Amino acid sequence: MTDARQDIEQTIASLRSAYPSSFAQCATEQQLRDANARFLGKKGDVTALLKRLGSIEADQRKAVGALVNDLKSEIEKAFAAALARIDKARRDKELNERFFDLSLPGRVPTPRGHVHPLMQTRDDMLAIFKDLGFVIAAGPEVELEQNNFTKLAFPPDHPATDMQDSFWIKPGVLLRTHTSNVQIREMSGRTPPLAVVSAGVVYRRDDDVTHSPMFHQIEGFIVDENVSFAQLKGVLTAFAHRLYGADVPVRFRPSYFPFVEPGAELDVGCVFCARPDGTRPGCRVCKGTGWIEILGCGMIHPQVFENCGIDPDRYTGFAFGMGIERVAMLRYGIPDIRLLFENDPRFLAQF
Ligand code: PHE
Repeated sequence: MTDARQDIEQTIASLRSAYPSSFAQCATEQQLRDANARFLGKKGDVTALLKRLGSIEADQRKAVGALVNDLKSEIEKAFAAALARIDKARRDKELNERFFDLSLPGRVPTPRGHVHPLMQTRDDMLAIFKDLGFVIAAGPEVELEQNNFTKLAFPPDHPATDMQDSFWIKPGVLLRTHTSNVQIREMSGRTPPLAVVSAGVVYRRDDDVTHSPMFHQIEGFIVDENVSFAQLKGVLTAFAHRLYGADVPVRFRPSYFPFVEPGAELDVGCVFCARPDGTRPGCRVCKGTGWIEILGCGMIHPQVFENCGIDPDRYTGFAFGMGIERVAMLRYGIPDIRLLFENDPRFLAQF
């Protein structure tokens, strides 16, 4: 046996007796990795042995190389086992150290969401009508021209039916421009008495700080024998008082909508410039008038009843419709309608 070979075999023997205790002493992963490097690292003892194989006679090199490689894989296995031991010890320590109650609330409270101010306004408005005895109905946003315009007695050349004002899907079909389509759908095939309210999305080609091409409306109507304009005034005044406060003044102004006769608009006293003595000097919000328009209304036109198969000689009724964004903007002092749809958390967190 050559000296070189003998020397290598001795080194193998001494390394083999050294690594187990060396690994056993390690308490942390870092210590273990350092210990391992002293054997298997670039400058480690086993690596040095592998380099020395060149000095062995060619006919013995294979056998000696196998011995070194055996040692190398032995140490690799021992390293893996030691690593697992350290890992387990660390985990056991963590688990036993103190009781960890995962169900405790976090130190930083999770922020809680809330209903969107617009939906809150809608729900509050619907709740008032529900309280007054109305039932809630829904209608489609993609609607037939028939239900959105024709049966509501819009003349074919009415500007609202113009291609420039509405979003047309195809001839005869459009995105509804108001919730009045629900009047048509709910009255057709039903027998009065009816008291129905509906909230939903409507679409118009408008876009500025107070108009969005997509916005929300609430529509309602009552049909029965002997429904009068006095009842219209009574119901809508009660609604306005519930929404804006019992002492807010209201006024009805004549107005025109093709599907009602007579038609009116309801104004409430401006809540922004009201003084304790009840006077309203006028402000930017009410454009100096002291009044804010909140809805359109009127007695349902006999032609509309006929279009829905209801006898206009027997029944009368009234209808009303209003935007929800406007109410929310007045209520919360929101200056730009777009804020309601951008859903910026910094805005929404203010409600
Ligand atoms: N549909 C009308 C609008 O969008 C509002 C309205 C509804 C007016 C019902 C009268 C009766 O402006």
